[in-house]
Amino acid sequence: MDKLIIQGGRRLEGTIEISGAKNAALPLMASTILAPGKHVLENVANLKDILTMCELLEKLGARVDRSRLESDGILEIDSADIQSRRAPYELVKTMRASILALGPLYARFGCAEVSFPGGCAIGARPVDLHLKGLEMLGAKISVEHGYIVAEKQDAHANEITFDTVTVTGTENVMMAAALTPGKTVLLNAAQEPEVVDLAEYMIEMGAKIKGAGTERIELAGVESLKPGVHRIMPDRIEAGTYLVAAAITGGELLLKNCNAGHLESVIAKLHEAGVGIEKSEAGLRVWRKGKLRGVDIRTTPYPGFPTDMQAQMMALLSLAESGVSMITETIFENRFQHALELQRMGANIKMEGNRALVTGVKKLSGAKVMATDLRASASLVLAGLASQNTTEVSRVYHLDRGYEKMEEKLNAVGAKIQRAKEA
Ligand code: EPZ
Repeated sequence: MDKLIIQGGRRLEGTIEISGAKNAALPLMASTILAPGKHVLENVANLKDILTMCELLEKLGARVDRSRLESDGILEIDSADIQSRRAPYELVKTMRASILALGPLYARFGCAEVSFPGGCAIGARPVDLHLKGLEMLGAKISVEHGYIVAEKQDAHANEITFDTVTVTGTENVMMAAALTPGKTVLLNAAQEPEVVDLAEYMIEMGAKIKGAGTERIELAGVESLKPGVHRIMPDRIEAGTYLVAAAITGGELLLKNCNAGHLESVIAKLHEAGVGIEKSEAGLRVWRKGKLRGVDIRTTPYPGFPTDMQAQMMALLSLAESGVSMITETIFENRFQHALELQRMGANIKMEGNRALVTGVKKLSGAKVMATDLRASASLVLAGLASQNTTEVSRVYHLDRGYEKMEEKLNAVGAKIQRAKEA
């Protein structure tokens, strides 16, 4: 396993290119199952989770050309010869997002077997709403030996209300409904930009979808879909992470290829905390304006403050020079594990249930810390950048799942990060 060794206390200055969104690429890759033939996806980040999804598609029988992924961010996926409908435990257990194969396999082949994704460090992560949505479209759902088995019985359209806003649940049911005859309406649907990106590609494939990006999505089922070409949206969480990197080091960065429109709630909070952010033709400019102030954060579904930015903001607010911050995590039940590691670096954080009270300290001190999940590892890197002396973040495989070349991008703007093997 790898670790990152971070020499803290260095001001970041320069330009960072933002990569394609992981959480848009994963459903988009799964959607290629819907339409037999050769799909081309552009601006795909070279990430562990993307490679895992490539493996899953190949396991199903698709041909994936990843030869231009590293160099040009291009994936070619030919789904014509998919013959398996089974997403195996060995793959699903390494990446929960494999559940995104369920909807398209069911839609195209009338049957699907996907290993039940387990929980993960941040929560139980149930998929009951995915299954309820498929059942309401006429699927017969059973669970056999740890596998979800979905079989098309009397496929019919329906009006489906999600009890809780679920991003991949909305995406899975959207993909199943696209090939289900009649007009299906999804209510309390996720409004995340990644859902919109998926819908846009599905429309290009011939799906009839209206309302993506709102809580009400309408789909008119079609007979079949055809493959196309799609450029993946920029990663708003990667961009948000680097906004915090500039703020926490007192530096100034220009983020290119990012969409500020996807970050409005994050930008508003950073402004409130005393961080300067300016949208320009060249990109998104961010700098530490003056004193860092404590702010309250409450994570909610898009367009509210994203849960995927909560850990990064906690690192920043640990160094607020005035005011305290109340952070409330409403999406996942166990998403404060980074707080325990930040405390070891000197942060003053008091937790109770899904709330954390952060009182700024003058400085954080470097320490050996351990990453527990993707965004927690990002928050520890950010804290390491701002700390005096050296921080070692272990288990950075978590980081490699969702951040493309993080240490390279940060070192290019003045950080001093070295990757090493853990003893
Ligand atoms: C997506 O996960 C993202 N992953 C997550 O990003 C992100 O944190 C999350 O949405 C919330 O924005 C991908 O898009 C691949 P949910 P997802 O279903 O879809 C409950 C990262 O760091 N729920 O929106 O799995 C669930 O327990 C990752 O990149 C049910 O109860 O999240 C949670 O409390 C982490 N039943 C809430 O809904 C269900 O059937 C939101 O989960 C589904 C979800």
